[in-house]
Amino acid sequence: AEGVRAALERLVRDVPDFPEPGIVFKDITPLLADHKAFSQVVEALAEMGRDESGAGVVDKVVGMEARGFILAAPVALALGAGFVPVRKAGKLPGETHAVSYALEYGEATLELHRDAVAPGERVLLVDDVLATGGTVAATRQLVEACGGVVVGVAVLMELGFLPGRETVGDLPLHALMTI
Ligand code: PRP
Ligand code: MG
Repeated sequence: AEGVRAALERLVRDVPDFPEPGIVFKDITPLLADHKAFSQVVEALAEMGRDESGAGVVDKVVGMEARGFILAAPVALALGAGFVPVRKAGKLPGETHAVSYALEYGEATLELHRDAVAPGERVLLVDDVLATGGTVAATRQLVEACGGVVVGVAVLMELGFLPGRETVGDLPLHALMTI
């Protein structure tokens, strides 16, 4: 049977010059459309949230808007954990914590409902891509502002030529592929 690595090689599509000239966009939509490959990817991402016996050991799985949602929600179900969205500014209706961070041009703000993670809860972060690590670092701050404990980060793709891994620092990080 095709392993998860081969499925990623076959089904993550390079799109040159998108969204701008010189950028090669990694399009995961062919992977998402393939039930078997998507299932394998979800299971591989969920591995970080299991103990040796295969039992889920996290209380919450956090996904970052927008592409993180697609992966984090099925990972949460696979682990028997709750799903929590981190959203871009102004989208969440309740009381939130907010963290702003620098982008190449300008600034982005992410928010988390204050009551979405309880003090002491164990949290796994799931996103599609780790690039500079800014999104993961901001999300970690949001979870910690609630008193939660981030136990790991699982991403489909790590851009090895950017310092994302250094930004993530001491947190266990699992990337299914590095480019
Ligand atoms: C992309 C990607 C990651 C983030 C990684 O999200 O989905 O979330 O960038 O970059 P970083 O490590 O430098 O923070 P983006 O904000 O482009 O939006 P989207 O998920 O809503 O498409
Ligand atoms: Mg994103």
